[in-house]
Amino acid sequence: MERPSIRSYSIRGTRITQAQRDAKSALQEVHGVPVTNKLLDLKTLFPAAEKIIMEIGFGMGEATAIMALNSPQNGYLAVDLHPPGIGKLLARIQEQEISNIKVIEDDVHVVLPYMIHDRALDAVHLYFPDPWPKSKHHKRRIVTPAFLQLIAAKLKPGGYFHLATDWFPYAQAMQLVFSTSDQFNGGVIAKPDWRPVTRFEGQGIDKDHRVTDLLYFRN
Ligand SMILES: C[S@@+](CC[C@H](N)C(=O)[O-])C[C@H]1O[C@@H](n2cnc3c(N)ncnc32)[C@H](O)[C@@H]1O
Repeated sequence: MERPSIRSYSIRGTRITQAQRDAKSALQEVHGVPVTNKLLDLKTLFPAAEKIIMEIGFGMGEATAIMALNSPQNGYLAVDLHPPGIGKLLARIQEQEISNIKVIEDDVHVVLPYMIHDRALDAVHLYFPDPWPKSKHHKRRIVTPAFLQLIAAKLKPGGYFHLATDWFPYAQAMQLVFSTSDQFNGGVIAKPDWRPVTRFEGQGIDKDHRVTDLLYFRN
């Protein structure tokens, strides 16, 4: 499987606690989906789900767990590659007996093309992606025209892409990228009540960062 040469994430996964490590080894088989180059049968994975929602970059997974508990009718595919966060979300799923989250540990640039059928997702959530504020790092930002094309291919027509960032210049850059796409329509919205405040967002709010939510629909 081809992996991107420019990474949208930083390698900082070394400080994993014993509990997170234990959760990963005990629970990944139960609540995780192994990464393969075979397309997933989402109906088998979430037989009763009304909507299938992918969350990209869930971090420590606290918001993911809250959303899944609040919307048991939906199935959540949670994708990240940060080992402590994978362990933490797996532990939350087990402790809170959550049955509608499946965790995939890899770069979403690999997961989407190899494992997800076209037009299979009802929604994609991308909350507080690494902002890469320095100009020399902008090329690492995940929201690019190529990324939008990938998301567009996997969303059902009428499906939505909900993003949030606490880095205002990134919010503006995201809108610029969307403005070049004829596959999406939307823009800035007020934070919906159903989106919990995430861990990263809380840290941004403490630094007086302005939070922007963006909602785009697939044409
Ligand atoms: C800044 S954190 C935000 C985490 C969480 N959404 C929050 O708001 O607290 C960004 C997360 O995205 C993940 N990430 C970055 N690039 C990714 C990629 N290409 N595929 C999957 N996850 C990615 C990182 O590992 C990290 O956990």
